[in-house]
Amino acid sequence: MTQRQNTPAPRNTADVVILGAGPAGLLLANLLHRNGVDCAVLERTTRAHVQTRARAGFLAPATVRTLERHGLADGLRRRGHRHGTCEFRTDDGRFRLDYATLGQGEQHTVYPQQDLVTDLLTHYLDAGGRIHFETEALAVPDPHSTRPTVTVRDADGRPDHWQARYVAGCDGRHGAARRSLPPGTARHHRDHGITWLGLLAQAPPSLDAVGYALHPHGFAGHMARTPHVTRYYLQYERGTPADAWTEDRIQHELDTRMRAADHGPLHHGPIVHRTVVDLESDVVQPLRHGSLLLAGDAASLISPSAAKGANLAVLEAELLADALTDTLAHGDRGALDRYSAQALTHIWRAQDFSLWMIRLLHAEPGPPHGESFFHESLRRSRLASLRTSRTHQDWFAENYVGV
Ligand code: APR
Repeated sequence: MTQRQNTPAPRNTADVVILGAGPAGLLLANLLHRNGVDCAVLERTTRAHVQTRARAGFLAPATVRTLERHGLADGLRRRGHRHGTCEFRTDDGRFRLDYATLGQGEQHTVYPQQDLVTDLLTHYLDAGGRIHFETEALAVPDPHSTRPTVTVRDADGRPDHWQARYVAGCDGRHGAARRSLPPGTARHHRDHGITWLGLLAQAPPSLDAVGYALHPHGFAGHMARTPHVTRYYLQYERGTPADAWTEDRIQHELDTRMRAADHGPLHHGPIVHRTVVDLESDVVQPLRHGSLLLAGDAASLISPSAAKGANLAVLEAELLADALTDTLAHGDRGALDRYSAQALTHIWRAQDFSLWMIRLLHAEPGPPHGESFFHESLRRSRLASLRTSRTHQDWFAENYVGV
């Protein structure tokens, strides 16, 4: 297969057609383009939407190293800030874990995902990369073909198609790539029975730590995003619309669950964004189906309880870029054959820790029942050993920042 020639690519063909311009799709595109592999990104929404969609923002050290390795870290170096402390608030009081001094001694970098996506897009376009906005992939009818097709609805709403050598499905959990998986493909889905109301408040962070509050009313979380914006999460009744609670009720629940009366007031500010998240896991296995390869949320959905989603997306994009470059530029298919197993190793480790965090932070969902007391006692015991056992703290720190 050819290296990217200087002659313009025939219409609607690329060696790698990438579905979706999130962290996974855009990092993959940057790395392939830089490696001289002919690729094109198809994104359903507009550039403005992609660059302003507020989602994650907690980058693992491995993610920062990957972005630095590829010269894509200028934005996060300038505007990101390091974060290395968690604070747990329970009815037994509060305790802090300086996880930057535990485990491997590493910490997160807080950098809003929309800023990361904007950086990746700018780098890609400045380098002459191809991307088609408002182009919705509909299906990959022949994933096992050596020249797979992607059927699309173009920006004018007309049906069209793309021809590729490989298709990278980075279009999320509800995208065309997942819809095109061969019948019988394993999908490991788990609904954790917990729902969060995710909030962005135009207010400075109230703690210099990630705040986890365990309260009879339910969980509450506090995460810095920027010096002026704070991400909050509140455990929420499943099926309740995002706008069901007034701002006063939200502030009241945050103060109550974060025990502001005991630990100091929270900075309140207008809620600028609300979203309801049902905590779920949904892993596709394997991640390769002939010429169709999955990465990011298309590969595995993970609950936000341990901030792994965007970090897994970056890890998988780099693995896939190396594998596709080896195959297309050097004719070596080894890495591509190993991609699925390698990525799934990281995915399942992240799913394991994410589930551990869900069980730590939440009472057993549903009305109290015989098991509840057993579950609650396990939870208190986990918290107690996290507060007192250095070995447990090191284990926590390594998994909390790891990916
Ligand atoms: N055709 C083209 N583009 C599509 C289609 C489609 N049919 N369906 C979805 N998309 C686009 C979306 O508009 C979005 O821009 O695919 C992109 C997927 O991006 P993300 O959802 O950000 O997914 P990913 O890159 O896998 O990163 C996921 O980032 O936000 C965190 O925690 C989140 O884990 C998640 C991670």
